[in-house]
Amino acid sequence: MTSATFPDGFLWGAATAAHQVEGGNVNNDHWEMEHAPHSPFAAPSGDACDSYHRWREDMDLVAGAGLDTYRFSLEWSRIEPEEGEFSRAALDHYRRMVDGARERGLNPLVTLVHFTMPRWLLHDGGWTGPTTGDRLARFVEFAAPALADAEYVATINEPNLMAVQPVIGQMARRGEQIKGLPVPDQDVAEALIGLHGRCMEVLRSAGSPPAGMTIVGLEYIDEGHGQERLEAARSAMMDQFLQAATGDDFLGLQIYTAQRFGPDGLIAPPADQQTLAHGMERRPQALGAAVSYAAGLLPDVPLLVTENGIATADDDDRIAFTDEALRSLAAAIADGADVRGYVHWSLLDNFEWMLAYGPTFGLVSVDRETFARTPKPSLGWLGEVARRNGLA
Ligand code: FCB
Repeated sequence: MTSATFPDGFLWGAATAAHQVEGGNVNNDHWEMEHAPHSPFAAPSGDACDSYHRWREDMDLVAGAGLDTYRFSLEWSRIEPEEGEFSRAALDHYRRMVDGARERGLNPLVTLVHFTMPRWLLHDGGWTGPTTGDRLARFVEFAAPALADAEYVATINEPNLMAVQPVIGQMARRGEQIKGLPVPDQDVAEALIGLHGRCMEVLRSAGSPPAGMTIVGLEYIDEGHGQERLEAARSAMMDQFLQAATGDDFLGLQIYTAQRFGPDGLIAPPADQQTLAHGMERRPQALGAAVSYAAGLLPDVPLLVTENGIATADDDDRIAFTDEALRSLAAAIADGADVRGYVHWSLLDNFEWMLAYGPTFGLVSVDRETFARTPKPSLGWLGEVARRNGLA
C-alpha cells in the first residue's frame, strides 16, 4: 500500500456525546423512553461511562495518545432542567471541560444538541413544536459564553438521521423489514434545518467560534437499475442538508457505511458483511466517497469528519477498517475536498442508543462495573497516525 498524508494543521481527534457517556441523565427524553413500558431500548443508559465525573481521565487518554482534538456535547436537560430555569453550575461543568481540553493541548469541538432534549420539551412540542426554535435559541444564548474558547461549535448532531427516526418507528410498528435507512420525514427534516438556522443566528451574534451542523453522510451505490431510487434517497438524506449548510463556517460529516439500491429501492447488505450495529455494511471506503460527494455539492464550506468508526469486538479489524477509511479520505482530499480534520467515533465503548452496551465502537474499553478505562491498541495506532499526520 502507498503512504497517505494529510494537509498541514489537519486535526485528529476522538468523539463522545453526553448521553452516551455521562450517566445519570435522568431528566432527558431518552431516559424517559429507556424506562417506558415496552421500551425499544435493549437496556437503560444508567451510569453510562460515568464521564460526567471522569471526563478528565477521558481527555488525558485522548491527549496522551497524541490526538489533538476532543469532541463532546452539552446536555441541555442538565443546563435547563425546567423550562426557563437555567443552571449556572451545570453550564460551568462544560466550561471547565472546554478549559480542561485546552489545558491538555486539545481543541474542543462542542456539540450543542446530540439527540437528547429535556423532558419538559418532549412533553411540550418536541423537535417540531411551534415554540421549539425560540426555546432552543434561548438555551444557546445562555450556553454560548461557555463555548467561547471552543475550536468549533456543532449545532445539531445529524438532523438528517433524526428525521429518519420517526419513519423507522412507524415501520417497526407496522412490522415492516428495515433494510437500511429509509427516507427522512420531510416535515421533521425542515423543522430541524430551521432549528439549525436558529442556532447559527444566536451563535453568530454571540461571536462564537466557527459553527455548523453535523450530518450523516453515506456512499450511495447503484446495484443495477437503482439510480432513480438512489437519487431520491440521496437528495432527501444529503442534498437538502448540504444546501442548508451553505454559508456556514464548516460542515461535519459522520460516515460509517454505504446504501445499495436496486429497482425496488434499498438492498440490505449480506449478513456476513454487517458490523455489530444497526445492520450497517462494513464499507470503509464510504468515507472518501461520501466526503467527495459532499465537497462536490458544497465546495465553499470547509468539511470536518466529525465521526467515523466501526462497531466491532475485534480491535485489529477496527485498525484495518480505519486505515482503509483514512486512505479513501486522503484520496478525496487529493482530489480537492477541503477537509480540516478527522474525529473518530468513539473514544469509549459507550451507550449505543437503542442497542445499549452491545456494539463496541470505542478506542478504549470501559468496565461496566468499575468504569475502569482500558485503551485498545487502536487508540495508540490512531495517535501514531496523528503524530505522523499520515499513514505509513
Ligand atoms: C451516530 C451518532 C453517534 C453514534 C454513532 C455510532 O449516528 O451520532 O451518537 O451513536 O452513530
